[in-house]
Amino acid sequence: MKKDITTMHLDDFLSPETLRKLREPDLDLAKGLPASIYTDSEFFAFENERLFHDTWVGIGFDSDVPNTGDAIPIEVGGTPLILCRDNNSCIQVLHNVCRHRATIVLESQASGLKTFKCPYHGWVYGLDGGLLATPFWDGTASSNKCPVNPGSASLIPVRSAVWNHIVFINLSGSAQSLGEYLSEMQEELGHLDLDSMEVVHTESWIFDANWKLVMENWEVYHHVWVHQGIFDLMSDEVDLETGEPCTDMVAYNNCLMLRPNALRKESARPDPGRLPLMPWKPNVSKTQIFTSIANAILPNVTASMGRVEFAPAVYIPIAPDKTLAKMAWFIPPGIKNNRELQPEVDKILERWLGPDRTITGRRGIRAQDHHCMELQQKARRSSVANDVRFSKTWEANVRYFQNWLVDKLETRDPTAN
Ligand code: FES
Ligand SMILES: [Fe+2]
Repeated sequence: MKKDITTMHLDDFLSPETLRKLREPDLDLAKGLPASIYTDSEFFAFENERLFHDTWVGIGFDSDVPNTGDAIPIEVGGTPLILCRDNNSCIQVLHNVCRHRATIVLESQASGLKTFKCPYHGWVYGLDGGLLATPFWDGTASSNKCPVNPGSASLIPVRSAVWNHIVFINLSGSAQSLGEYLSEMQEELGHLDLDSMEVVHTESWIFDANWKLVMENWEVYHHVWVHQGIFDLMSDEVDLETGEPCTDMVAYNNCLMLRPNALRKESARPDPGRLPLMPWKPNVSKTQIFTSIANAILPNVTASMGRVEFAPAVYIPIAPDKTLAKMAWFIPPGIKNNRELQPEVDKILERWLGPDRTITGRRGIRAQDHHCMELQQKARRSSVANDVRFSKTWEANVRYFQNWLVDKLETRDPTAN
C-alpha cells in the first residue's frame, strides 16, 4: 500500500546521527545532507507537502502577466494553478481546477481573456475566479444560470502577494505575512526602488538537478572555477594573505545574502558603462547601507543584484532531479527602448546568459551555475555522495540552508491545513 506522506516524519528519511552531524556547531566537523535527499521520490513528495505547501514560495513575476486578461498555468508542489491579471489590474492566483468535475481550466498561456472557460462542459469563470455560467446545466438553451451558489463553486483563490515584482504564494494560507517572512531582505534592499524598474528580458528553462542545489550555490567559493571569463581572479574573492573573503555570508531566518565587504575591490565590480545605476528611494542615506549582490529567499527565490540590473529568479521543483527555472531582468526606468543604450543592456544579459543567450551555452553566469548543479545531481547517484563537507571560510550559508530545511520539515505549523 502507498505510504501516506502526510503522516510521515523527518525521521523516516534522516537518521538521528545524520541530523547530529548536520547540526554540529564546528563547521569543520559538520557533514551535509546525504544523496537520497536529492534523489528520493518519497522525500520529494514529503518536502513538497510540508515545505512548498506551508510556506511562501515564488511562482513568477508580475511581468509574466502585464495586462488584464493575461494568464499562465503553473504547477507548484504538484498543485495546478493559474497566475493571471484580473479586471482591476491585480495579480490573482487561482487553483486551476474546475468546480464541476475537476478538470484543468487553463491549458496554456493566454492573453486578452475576458473569462476562463472549462474545456470539458464549458463552465465559465471570471478573471477573479467567480463562477459566471453553467451552460445547458438543465438541458435547456436558456439554462445559463448557476446551479449552485456561485460563491461555493468559484475557482478557489490562493493566498498571494507581490514583492519587488516577484509573485509569492502560500498554499496553506496560514503562513505569517509575506512582509514578516522576508523582513530581513526588505531591510537589506528596502533603500532601492526596485518597483520602478522595468522588465527587459525573461527566460524559463528546465534543468536536471534538484531545487536544493540552487540554494546551496549561494556561496562564492565556486566563482573562479565555474564562472571562467566572468570571475577569474581568486584575489577578487578573498584576501590571499589572510584568507578573509571579500564577501560577507549572511543568513537570517528565511533569507541568505552575499554582501560585498570593504575588502572587495572596485575593479571586481562590473562597469555600468553609460547605464544608470539601480534607482534609490528618496531620502535614504547612501553611506549607511550595504547592498548584497546575491540574495535568496528560502525556499525557492533568488534575487541577484547587478549595479544596473535586478535579476530575480524562482525555482519550481518538478521531480527530484528536475527543476523549472524562471528568471527576469529588470533595468532602471527610462532606458528600455533607448536604442543607443541597447548594446549595453545586451551586454548585461550576455553576462548572465552567454552571447548566444541560450542557457545551454555555458558561457553566462546562470548557464554555468546550472551545468554544475547538473553535475552535482549526477554524482548523487553514488553512495559516495553521502559524505559531503563544508569550508569554514566559504560555506556557512550552505550549511545554514540545510539546517533551515530540516528544521522546517521537522516542525509543522500546527495551524497548517
Ligand atoms: S469539468 Fe469543467 S465544466 Fe465540467
Ligand atoms: Fe555561480
